[in-house]
Amino acid sequence: MDYIMIKELKKRNLLLFFLLSTASAGCFLPTNKLITVIGTGYVGLVTGAGFASLGNQVICADVNTEKINMLQEKGKIPFFEPGLEELVHTVVSTGHLSFTSNVDYAVANANILVIAVGTPSQADGHADLTALFKVLDTIIGTINSYKIIVVKSTVPLTTNKTIEQYILDKGIDHSLFDIVSNPEFLREGSAVYDFLNPDRVVIGSNNQSAAKCIADLYKPLKDGTVPLIITDTTSAELIKYASNAFLATKISFINEIANLCDRVNADIVTVAKGMGLDVRINNYFLNPGPGFGGSCFPKDSLELCATALANNVPLEIVQASLVVNDNQQALPVKKVKDMMGSDLKGKTVAILGLSFKANTDDIRYSPAIKTIELLQQELVTIKAYDPVAMYNMSLLFPAITYCNSIDDAVYNADAIVILTEWDEFKCIDWHKVRSQVRQPYLVDMRNIVDPIMCMNQDFIYEGVGRGLYKK
Ligand code: UDX
Ligand code: UDX
Repeated sequence: MDYIMIKELKKRNLLLFFLLSTASAGCFLPTNKLITVIGTGYVGLVTGAGFASLGNQVICADVNTEKINMLQEKGKIPFFEPGLEELVHTVVSTGHLSFTSNVDYAVANANILVIAVGTPSQADGHADLTALFKVLDTIIGTINSYKIIVVKSTVPLTTNKTIEQYILDKGIDHSLFDIVSNPEFLREGSAVYDFLNPDRVVIGSNNQSAAKCIADLYKPLKDGTVPLIITDTTSAELIKYASNAFLATKISFINEIANLCDRVNADIVTVAKGMGLDVRINNYFLNPGPGFGGSCFPKDSLELCATALANNVPLEIVQASLVVNDNQQALPVKKVKDMMGSDLKGKTVAILGLSFKANTDDIRYSPAIKTIELLQQELVTIKAYDPVAMYNMSLLFPAITYCNSIDDAVYNADAIVILTEWDEFKCIDWHKVRSQVRQPYLVDMRNIVDPIMCMNQDFIYEGVGRGLYKK
């Protein structure tokens, strides 16, 4: 390849990709790679079990001894994730996956270290990297042979470069480690599927053999057809943030259009369907609701905005999507007040759905938190039901009534608010519920109930962007 071509490819950041695709340079690690995943949370446990299911030897390590004991002693998953318990049982029984709270041991005995500890938002929007650097100090204190350090946790732009310099500054020779950014794109509730069927694998590194080692781990997926993006670490970090911020913005966009539909008597379900048939828009993430929640969209959008502002290039659109989202999370209570009158004092409201979305027990940034806070300010009696997230919410709001069934929750309620699209809420017998409630007001923030059917059962129904239905 002549110099001109190299110059051109380098300019377009494709040189690394080209060299990797043609490089004879293989992965310098021994064939019997041992992977340690540090942080056995929603992401780390799925990642560890996933790598183990591909035939790798994996240790999942976590400082939370309660979590590790649950996994080790009882084979119990410390959170709700469909399909994960079965996957973990399988790879533990074949000896490919084990657990430990002895992070030092797990680090010393592996040559690939995957960091998947929490990087939650701080008050100023920047991510809190305390846990990440604690893990780095453990690695620095025990490093005894060449390691590839894979940063799976979502970290602010240029953090991988900072990590590399941090380790060098601690006196560790660069021959003993390389850094690889390998962001995750796992959706809670479908994380096992997403790990085994990725749309793409993103790898950032300034060392082509380290990048290739990690790329090789994903080779067995989808018969080796998974698109692979190999680039520098900062571009890899930004692919993650920009993807989440774009999806969050798409949700805020459709929520605003839904609110407009409520004003002009258009139907958001039809509008979204008509939009989504344009392949450039597609119909994913066009479902209006009570606003996005979870441990990623709010955190990652806030972090990206904070970083952009610090670089004097404010992201006005992403910033606006966060403002829209805050307003959307306050909308359920506004709709209840619009239907029932502004004085809710002494009324009973039943909330169906506490997790930030269906098929998870995660309540981080859940719209239910804002709804409960606002209803408490109105001196409302709150009854709540969720298939799996009530324990987590009771840690935040111990004083509200958690019910064991939908029937218990709706009994004697003046209003019902659906916040999460659990399947069991899609087949409620509203004729029966009508006889249980005190007043027939229903706010369906996920548009999962048929408004005509509800109206025929004498409910006064309002969804998101579907207008008001009452006889
Ligand atoms: C985390 C990050 O929050 C997210 O930004 C990133 O994309 C993937 O990793 P998640 O798995 O949801 O996401 O975090 P969480 O469920 O909080 O699990 C983190 C785990 O790390 C916890 O089990 C915690 O005990 C563990 N941890 C934390 C350590 O093992 N060591 C530490 O020093 C700190
Ligand atoms: C997201 C990204 O999808 C995933 O790629 C990334 O790795 C982590 O963050 P997650 O937060 O688990 O995954 O859930 P997701 O399914 O993306 O939903 C996020 C929020 O958007 C939820 O509150 C959900 O209810 C909301 N949402 C999603 C909508 O309101 N409308 C939609 O159409 C889709």
